[in-house]
Amino acid sequence: MRLTEVKLGRTGGRSSNNRTAVRTIAVTSGKGGVGKTNIAMNLAVALAKAGHRTLLLDADLGMANIDELLGLNASVNLLDVLEGNCRLEDILIEGPEGLLIVPAASGNQYLSELGALECGGLVHAFSELKGRIDSLIIDTASGVSESVTSFCRASSQVLVVTDSEPASIRDCVAQIRHLNKTNAIAHFHVLANMVLTARDGTELFKRILELLGDDQDIVLSYAGFVPRDDLLRKAVSRRKAVICASPQSGSSVAINNLARRVLRWRRPDVPHGQLEFFVERILQQNHVEREVLS
Ligand SMILES: Nc1ncnc2c1ncn2[C@@H]1O[C@H](COP(=O)(O)OP(=O)(O)OP(=O)(O)O)[C@@H](O)[C@H]1O
Ligand SMILES: [Mg+2]
Repeated sequence: MRLTEVKLGRTGGRSSNNRTAVRTIAVTSGKGGVGKTNIAMNLAVALAKAGHRTLLLDADLGMANIDELLGLNASVNLLDVLEGNCRLEDILIEGPEGLLIVPAASGNQYLSELGALECGGLVHAFSELKGRIDSLIIDTASGVSESVTSFCRASSQVLVVTDSEPASIRDCVAQIRHLNKTNAIAHFHVLANMVLTARDGTELFKRILELLGDDQDIVLSYAGFVPRDDLLRKAVSRRKAVICASPQSGSSVAINNLARRVLRWRRPDVPHGQLEFFVERILQQNHVEREVLS
């Protein structure tokens, strides 16, 4: 495995022109409950606070909870867009610091089983936001389901969150291997969450490096750590982002550091700058897979 940054021009490496590419980051994990939603949500708020036009997509389809976590209670959601009842514009809700949120439905089986092809209805919907955002943060479900892999594959960067429990480490390694072998994703940013010290974070990253050490196709970057923080839990129970509720807390400081780091990550080679590209990429790749399989 290599530790250096690699060129990830998955769509042909055309040189950049002056159109601004949208930074798309899928936040995922092997095991559930390691803090993806809190990291995605607070990272998105931190980016918005720093002046970046940011959209947070609740892509834990079927078990969505971001609107709830922020005390926003969306009355319409992605399901209404997919059913043709309203446009994406109509379901966007404004969160802290002007962050835009795309809420999804919770407990809906249709949404939880949404295949990549069914995302087609989103193509037009996302194109309505053309030129209006700089960053898209996608909070996915955990594991290796079709929707998780589709969202990771469609994103320019994948941020894998793990804590230091053995089962989380094992599932983190399994997810990275799966995404690499079956979806040709080479580069992963690993975030150590709920660790006690900075050193614990680097130890956790080293452990994952060791476990993936013989794999030459995978490139890992350390995205840093977020400490275990009671103020984050308190913010959750108050239905607030910790970045807003306790901006000086350890987790807020760490997430602001993460946001600064994320802004230095390479933008995609191809200046898509339009979100339909994001969904089209899901559709095209899925189509190719189905053709190969049939
Ligand atoms: N840095 C942290 N310090 C303390 N508690 C945390 C931290 N990060 C997350 N938590 C807590 O861990 C729990 C799970 O967090 P969260 O819902 O963000 O995880 P998740 O990975 O999105 O879960 P799921 O897989 O169910 O979607 C929450 O109760 C949250 O308050
Ligand atoms: Mg979650």
